[in-house]
Amino acid sequence: MNPRQPIGVFDSGVGGLSVLREIRRELPHEDLFYVADCGHAPYGDKPLAAIESRAVTITEFLLDQGAKTVVVACNTATGAAAKVLRSRYPIPIVAMEPAVKPAVERTRSGVVGVLATRQTLASQTFAELLGRIDLSTRILPQPCPGLVERVESGDLDGEPTRTLLTGFLLPLLARGADTLVLGCTHYPHLTPLIEELAGPDVAVLDSGAAVARQVRRRLTEAGLLAPADRIGRERFWTSGDPMATQGLIARLWRTDIVLEPFDTGARKNVMGYSL
Ligand code: DGL
Repeated sequence: MNPRQPIGVFDSGVGGLSVLREIRRELPHEDLFYVADCGHAPYGDKPLAAIESRAVTITEFLLDQGAKTVVVACNTATGAAAKVLRSRYPIPIVAMEPAVKPAVERTRSGVVGVLATRQTLASQTFAELLGRIDLSTRILPQPCPGLVERVESGDLDGEPTRTLLTGFLLPLLARGADTLVLGCTHYPHLTPLIEELAGPDVAVLDSGAAVARQVRRRLTEAGLLAPADRIGRERFWTSGDPMATQGLIARLWRTDIVLEPFDTGARKNVMGYSL
């Protein structure tokens, strides 16, 4: 393993770009390899075994590409697969944790809303996180079915996305939430809209920057930080339709990109789960 090897990052689709952006800001000298598993999005309503299977397949691909660490830039895949990935691969695996702890420290009303996929909110990882926080805060979990699809379609502030989001936010605001945690990496792409709909008295938190700092810490500990004499580059793959995804990634990444096909199609993974 050497410090010039890339950092591998993946998500069910374009959501993890919100984390990739923070990693790029924190670590300008690193090469970043990103897999958008758009052909299998959304993960949030799939069985745990299917999500774990995708996580294993993509991690092995990233390792084949020379990744020195893998970032699971997806809360749903974290709940379904982070433990398995950590037990199986001898590299640093960095995963997501919804920003519930900072939200508990910040709230004045004592009510925090957590927007995430059904799978994340039902996961053992999320239950363990809630078990570690101050019980005087009320945590309101809000599943958001359909929202990942809105982001994948590129609708970041159109009427269908506004209507869907309003339906998720109103019950949280009515119950006094003054802090909202974005527990899905797709949702930070909607932060301006969420802030507009929730109003100026509500804080909107995500954990992208904290994860980027954690990547830096893990690489530093392992002696694997890239030298400062180089400029980091990115490579992007998608399992979805490259024509459809190229424009969306370029728009969210704010620069032209080359998108390569990631095709594991009929391949079975080590769990034998065929997707
Ligand atoms: N970005 C993923 C997450 O953080 C979305 C999951 C999905 O595809 O449903 O949970």
